[in-house]
Amino acid sequence: MTGTAFIVGSAYLLAAVLFVVGLHQMRAPSTARRGNLVSATGMAIAIVATVVFALIDSGGQLVAWVALVLGLAVGGAFGVIRARTVKMTDIPQLVSLFNAVGGGAAAAVALADFVLHITGGTLPLTASIPIALDVLIGSVTFSGSLIAAGKLQGVISGKPITFPGSRILNIAVVVIALASAVLFVFNTHSLVLVLVILAASLIFGVLMVLPIGGADAPVIVSLLNALTGLAVAMAGFAIDNQAMIIAGALVGAAGTILTLQMAKAMNRSVMSIVLGGFGTADSSAGGGPVDADLTNIRQVTADDVAIQLAYAQHVMIVPGYGLAAAQAQHEAADLAKLLTDHGIDVKYAIHPVAGRMPGHMNVLLAEANVPYTQMLQLDEANAAFDTCDIALVIGANDVCNPDARKPGNPVSGMPILDVDHAKSVVVLKRSMSPGYAGIGNPLFSDPKTGMYFADAKKGLADVILAVKEYVSA
Ligand code: TAP
Repeated sequence: MTGTAFIVGSAYLLAAVLFVVGLHQMRAPSTARRGNLVSATGMAIAIVATVVFALIDSGGQLVAWVALVLGLAVGGAFGVIRARTVKMTDIPQLVSLFNAVGGGAAAAVALADFVLHITGGTLPLTASIPIALDVLIGSVTFSGSLIAAGKLQGVISGKPITFPGSRILNIAVVVIALASAVLFVFNTHSLVLVLVILAASLIFGVLMVLPIGGADAPVIVSLLNALTGLAVAMAGFAIDNQAMIIAGALVGAAGTILTLQMAKAMNRSVMSIVLGGFGTADSSAGGGPVDADLTNIRQVTADDVAIQLAYAQHVMIVPGYGLAAAQAQHEAADLAKLLTDHGIDVKYAIHPVAGRMPGHMNVLLAEANVPYTQMLQLDEANAAFDTCDIALVIGANDVCNPDARKPGNPVSGMPILDVDHAKSVVVLKRSMSPGYAGIGNPLFSDPKTGMYFADAKKGLADVILAVKEYVSA
């Protein structure tokens, strides 16, 4: 081993250790920020080592310098600018775009490696297997993630998009992609087959994500994240880069665990995603109608809510996407603190898919310095609703829709927060509009529910003012 190879290998090892330590720290909210920094440091070390090695390897050719510097400048600038300017509510789309970039880059690396080997005259199995897998997985991730980003952004309809024969077409393109990959690896090594794998995989990515609708997006986004990791690991095998193999494997494993947890949280099967029609099976049944009729609901004012809160013993705050959209986390935390200071027990009920990205509510509440001990996960929260005097639902809808307990609608089977078990309920939202799944919510017309129509930020500010009057009176 040369001196340079030893130094680069050591840098990759250090980077790998930092990835693992960082990932470990991300398990707990209190250390997650540090974990992110540690992992980012690992990635910076890996990038510097790769760039230095590539430059030495190229013999200092000008074209290599230009390509590397341009790539770093354009990619780095885009990443920094987007990360700094993205709105909190748009992060899921950005994550999906990053998944697309990761998958696409991995597939591009495999294609370049294929061309290098073919022009060099040999393509051993150790190269052809990762190339085939990388083109396959990377392309599915690329097109699937772009469609997912479009759906989350609202550019493509969030509803399931299906057409007659879509499942058959799905299976057909999977068979074509896999058969071409096997042929490519064991026999022909032809460019045409690589292009067939590429085209079939791109089509499959689109077909896989188009039928996803209703409340099922979180699972597909996290599955695509896992696939990005796998594609990057395969690219690492293709070009013999240990840092890529380790980072890709970690992302793949973490993404797979998250996908399984998400699927469990929504009572869905991951297998049905791959087979197509995921999330559509029940949607034709329609779910509950979207209840725009205001006659069978009870409207309440900020004052009404304040009285209820001021005289309660146990309060449960149920945050959802609307809290994030309104950026009302600080008002929610201020209200909770006000109540806690007056001896009222306040907790937050966190549903795993509340909001639009994994951990969305935890991130928001942590930003508002809500103590972790006040955040209850689904099971803990559900055990506490029976003794809760008032559940204050802030911009949440699907995650507390009791229709999930019934069959035949887009949220059927999804474990929900049992908000309707609380002694009384207040739902703070702007209108009777449905949530992400696009269906009505019988909680709103429950006799014990008061609907408080307002923007979450303004509505909470008004409640805080009113509570202050009651508690100081
Ligand atoms: P949703 O069911 O989407 O409901 C959010 C509610 O917030 C809406 O009904 C909306 O009603 C209200 N809202 C919007 N802006 C508001 C504002 N400024 N002030 C007050 N209220 C506002 O949210 P949820 O209960 O958090 O459920 C999340 C859904 O998204 C689930 O179906 C989940 O599967 C899906 N999803 C989750 C993820 C992840 S990973 N968490 C990713 C993609 C999709 P108004 O318009 O009437 O105000």
